[in-house]
Amino acid sequence: MTELSPEQATVAARYRTFAAEEVHGVSPSYERLTLEVADSREILDFLLGFPSARRQPNLLLAASRIVAGRVPDKDHLIELIRDPEGRLRTLMLSRTTQTNEAARCAVLLPVLASLPPPLALIEVGASAGLCLLPDRYGYDYGARRIAGAPGSPTFRCVVQGSAPIPAAAPTIVWRAGLDLSPIDLGSEADTAWLEALVWPEQEHRRRHLQQAIAVARAAPPRVVRGDLLHDLDALIAQAPAGTTLVVFHSAALAYVTPRATRLRFVERLRRTRATWISNEAPGVFPDILAQAPAPMPPSRFLLAVDGVPKAWTGPHGQSLEWFA
Ligand SMILES: C[S@@+](CC[C@H](N)C(=O)[O-])C[C@H]1O[C@@H](n2cnc3c(N)ncnc32)[C@H](O)[C@@H]1O
Repeated sequence: MTELSPEQATVAARYRTFAAEEVHGVSPSYERLTLEVADSREILDFLLGFPSARRQPNLLLAASRIVAGRVPDKDHLIELIRDPEGRLRTLMLSRTTQTNEAARCAVLLPVLASLPPPLALIEVGASAGLCLLPDRYGYDYGARRIAGAPGSPTFRCVVQGSAPIPAAAPTIVWRAGLDLSPIDLGSEADTAWLEALVWPEQEHRRRHLQQAIAVARAAPPRVVRGDLLHDLDALIAQAPAGTTLVVFHSAALAYVTPRATRLRFVERLRRTRATWISNEAPGVFPDILAQAPAPMPPSRFLLAVDGVPKAWTGPHGQSLEWFA
């Protein structure tokens, strides 16, 4: 291939990084396809037709899987790009990456259970609200298991350090989510989108998602449409008195840019009565990261309570390395 333009090279690098650091050893089909994308000038040009935030590998991969009905190979992806109806393009413009990983409750639960009950929960960036139901799932922490509601998923979480693993889930008397674009669990198209966001070879994640959706449909959590910066106060005002109010977020604040906006969100939140739980990629809050012990392990999130780091966590809730 002749030399890429700087813009093409930037997108190609993003896809190569995704292949090497995110899906390598986890999803061979996505690793192959994202490397092919990085080598295809036509696909790179297609991606350059979108705003930067929509050039994301996860968005292209999930949308192309929905349109193709399977993971396409490079030639099939190019056919989708050339399709005069533009279904792939339309989907990539109308959807965002809203992966809702209920298994992240496994790393939130020890912190939630250490707060005075009963709890009132608000999740900002809640997607479908599956992480608002930590008391309805089962957990396997190795040395300790917690049973969930019948038919619920059991999330396995490998624990290191002296994490305060509870004997039971805490009492949650009120819960609500806030999202720019809530996923409707009653909509086939919305739940198909959630499923498409799970990487192809991760059958256990897909099964857990389906189980979590079934649990949530039995008593759906309320997720309000709104922006975490402008609409949180109104939700906080609805939380019942006599509860420990928790505002948490997981894999959401990275989407809030620029960083100054994140800091404004934190400043406003810290002026309320809420306990703040953050479970995000370490770079999202550099001030919290600066307080965490070195070295930072690769491919982890950082769990913090009221700005104090507590643990490294597996991005899909699969591990908890407690250092606090
Ligand atoms: C990757 S999903 C994570 C969902 C869930 N927290 C989890 O861990 O499974 C991120 C969510 O944050 C939402 N989001 C992004 N920016 C937001 C904002 N400014 N206000 C409210 N929600 C936002 C997106 O719409 C998306 O549903």
